[in-house]
Amino acid sequence: MDFLGYEGKRVLVCGCYSGMGEATARQLLALGAEVHGLDFKESALDLASFNLVDLRDPASIDAAVAAIGGKVDALFNCAGLPQTAPPMDVMKVNYAGTRHLTDRVLEHMGEGGAIASISSNGGMGWSRKLDVLMPLIAIEKYDDIVKWCEDNPDIVNEGYSLSKEAVIVWTMRASADLIKRGIRINCTLPGPTQTPMMHEFESATDMAVLNAFIQPINRRSTPDEQAAPLIYLNSDAASYVNGLAMPIDGGFMGGMVTGQVDISALMPAQ
Ligand SMILES: NC(=O)c1ccc[n+]([C@@H]2O[C@H](COP(=O)([O-])OP(=O)(O)OC[C@H]3O[C@@H](n4cnc5c(N)ncnc54)[C@H](O)[C@@H]3O)[C@@H](O)[C@H]2O)c1
Repeated sequence: MDFLGYEGKRVLVCGCYSGMGEATARQLLALGAEVHGLDFKESALDLASFNLVDLRDPASIDAAVAAIGGKVDALFNCAGLPQTAPPMDVMKVNYAGTRHLTDRVLEHMGEGGAIASISSNGGMGWSRKLDVLMPLIAIEKYDDIVKWCEDNPDIVNEGYSLSKEAVIVWTMRASADLIKRGIRINCTLPGPTQTPMMHEFESATDMAVLNAFIQPINRRSTPDEQAAPLIYLNSDAASYVNGLAMPIDGGFMGGMVTGQVDISALMPAQ
């Protein structure tokens, strides 16, 4: 039985050059999907098509989606930048560009379509910041989102947390509209994962803090362990799953909420 239903599906993976996006594209190829890749670095995978795209440049997004053309069954938003990149680049890639790409792809998506984006455990503070996030996600156009960010550098801060919170709240809000068209949208909140980006997190974050985020499982995930839940979310098997922000963190969130993982105790004194 083709439980996930990817055989012959036309799927688009943005961020397929490395890490979780590469693992996602590779697993989708193995599942028999027609995989179209996007990234600003050339992919080595044997894809149905690959288009260079820079999520900081909406024109490149428009051109790439037009070049793929035709119906798209599923979109995987896997590209991202860490907090070591300039804050405006982080906001453009992780949120504004990802959202612009999604809007363009939605023009090619019909009933049964699905979108899955990678947010982060770094965005887990979203529920305490709805007063800021709701006005931000109400802004629809790429240039207007960028202008809001330029006008609010104190809120943007290093960019990473806000971009990931915005992906979560945008996913939740969009899910209510899109499901009326038979399209689902979800996101994942990965914990620390051994990808090329991890090197950047290690350079910017105290090791004790990074290690706090791998409790209680006590190891980092692999890119494949992050790809599989994304693939599930966009599959036929998840037909009633919509608007979900799914932690893929080895139990960190559950342990924290129930007081079994005390991150303040695990973090060094300030
Ligand atoms: N690694 C972790 O511990 C971790 C944890 C939580 C969330 N995440 C998120 O997971 C996602 C995937 O990251 P990863 O860990 O696989 O790292 P990665 O660096 O391997 O992958 C990021 C991908 O995004 C692409 N990219 C970067 N800037 C781009 C741009 N301007 N235009 C188009 N593509 C661009 C890169 O080329 C790369 O293929 C990111 O959104 C990241 O924030 C990572």
